[in-house]
Amino acid sequence: MDSAKLSLDGQDYELPVVVGSEGERGVDITRFRGESGAITLDSGYGNTGACQSAICFINGEEGILRYRGYPIEQLAENATFAEVCYLLIYGDLPTVEQLQGFSDGLTYHSMIHEDMKKFFEGYPASAHPMAVLSSMIASLATYYPEVAGEEDDDLNIVRILAKSKTMAAWSYKKSIGQPLVYPLNHLSYTADFLNMMFSVPTEKYEVSQVLQDALNVLLILHADHEQNCSTSTVRMVASSQANIFASLSAGVCALWGPLHGGANQKVLEMLEMIRQDGSDYKKYVDMAKDKDNDFRMMGFGHRVYKNFDPRATILRKACDEVLEELGVDDPLLEIAKQLEDVALNDEYFVERKLYPNVDFYSGVLYRAMGIPTDMFTVMFALGRLPGWIAHLKELRDDPSSRINRPRQIYTGPTVRDYTPLAER
Ligand code: CMC
Repeated sequence: MDSAKLSLDGQDYELPVVVGSEGERGVDITRFRGESGAITLDSGYGNTGACQSAICFINGEEGILRYRGYPIEQLAENATFAEVCYLLIYGDLPTVEQLQGFSDGLTYHSMIHEDMKKFFEGYPASAHPMAVLSSMIASLATYYPEVAGEEDDDLNIVRILAKSKTMAAWSYKKSIGQPLVYPLNHLSYTADFLNMMFSVPTEKYEVSQVLQDALNVLLILHADHEQNCSTSTVRMVASSQANIFASLSAGVCALWGPLHGGANQKVLEMLEMIRQDGSDYKKYVDMAKDKDNDFRMMGFGHRVYKNFDPRATILRKACDEVLEELGVDDPLLEIAKQLEDVALNDEYFVERKLYPNVDFYSGVLYRAMGIPTDMFTVMFALGRLPGWIAHLKELRDDPSSRINRPRQIYTGPTVRDYTPLAER
């Protein structure tokens, strides 16, 4: 079948059907309004495809996630974050030389302009690191004005990936009043980040391999997830031909929300709240089920995954291993496991297909690694940057792309005459 039929007011409209490489089908309504005068309405875009994309494939029913065709399980097991960045952004796994060149770029561009250091002095210590990261990424546009051209694009891509790592670690150092730690060229991306986060001038800091490996997996799992809220935001902003820094800064802001990347912070705050309340997790399960209560079980449910979140499966295993290797005995993990048990067996959660998502376990793992709670979403942002960049690049390279501009059904007052102030 290569077309669908839609009837409106007794008239049939033939709509082309687009088929993706995995057999996914979409009814193309691009010309429907022009022909019929009507739009299609899909609040929250649950059934709307905004683009065709070759970057990421998800099958939510079967719990499948692939980057450029490679299963997430294989990438998490074998790849480095730098390799995955390259894969997402340029479409293929890098050769040895390509990876070397790309990794060198990530190293050499990780310093930030000394003048930008002053920005950190201006933020209050209580500043949320997501606010700092989004502002700092947008501010890069003042130092590196965009010039159209492939070479400049590649340079800006590597600058953003490299400098965001430094800016993220510095926002943490600033919040705890410690001196900022400069990047070190001999360290890998993950080791350098951990060093900038945790080393202090007064003692030697050895970056643990366990932490590096755990961070590598976490960043890879976050790296892309097709048209999620923040990626769609990046595409939306970039569609107006706004510069790369502005577009990515908008992505950071969208990710911040608790229904999206901000959920990892909320998961930990929820587990802590349950612990402080005597670990009575069943009370909170009941609250989440109560329609008169606004409380939601953070870290549960997903718009796309209706079976299991493959990222959560990988992280659950990693959580057990890392906690054991680090010798962490965390009461919050116990509560997390009990909640998971309930979700898998409770009729409310089963019926609605609400399973623990990536943010449920990533929060627990970040905590075990010593990452402070309000940095969790920043970690997600660092991981998601290559995905956002890949989507932005795909949009820019697509000659058929045009400014994103949805329609609406107007429900406000119909025309009425202005009444002078004195008569109101
Ligand atoms: N706790 C309790 N009930 C829930 C939850 C939850 N976490 N999530 C969904 N529901 C219920 C919801 O009340 C609704 O019930 P009913 O059909 O009786 O009205 C039903 O499940 C469907 O929920 P929805 O809100 O229509 O689903 P959605 O696809 O619009 O939202 C979601 C998806 C992820 C925003 C939502 O499940 C949620 O708020 N989860 C908690 C926040 C969270 O963990 N977010 C991270 C998502 S994964 C990573 C990422 O995207 O960044």
